[in-house]
Amino acid sequence: MADPVKILVLDGPNLNLLGEREPEVYGRTTLADIHGQLARRAQELGAIIDTFQSNHEGALIDRLHAARGQYDGVIFNPGAFTHYSIALRDAVAACGLPTVEVHLSNTQAREDFRHRSVIAPVAAGQIAGFGPLSYRLALEALVAMAREDSRPPGAGGGSGS
Ligand code: DQA
Repeated sequence: MADPVKILVLDGPNLNLLGEREPEVYGRTTLADIHGQLARRAQELGAIIDTFQSNHEGALIDRLHAARGQYDGVIFNPGAFTHYSIALRDAVAACGLPTVEVHLSNTQAREDFRHRSVIAPVAAGQIAGFGPLSYRLALEALVAMAREDSRPPGAGGGSGS
């Protein structure tokens, strides 16, 4: 059987308060619930996840450095750091892992300062606006990407495969 795909799930500042924090914007689901749902979906997909949340930029940078060569991809909700942390952007680029930037809310439909992401240019993609489903969609994308990458040359991959 193929090795499990390993995904790191990183959450930035204030996301530890999900469920209580501005529920009209972020919903009532806690971060622990999101991670639990994600772990179950990962198992179905033949993947495993590790999770890490911090309110501190440096701790997130350290976790990204430690992830180098250890994971097939990263799901990253950088919270407000999304909009201004060049240090986190550089860490995402430096870790060399496909990273999907996720947001619970549709940042493009909110205040102007949330429209800009300094992370997006170094991410594989961005998923925003689907609540906890944003994380699951990111997981599906990263697992599919990892499986594509590990497919032996000539193994096909056109429609119907
Ligand atoms: C967020 C969006 C950010 O603008 C905000 O600062 C957050 C949460 C989201 O998941 O919707 O903390 O990343």
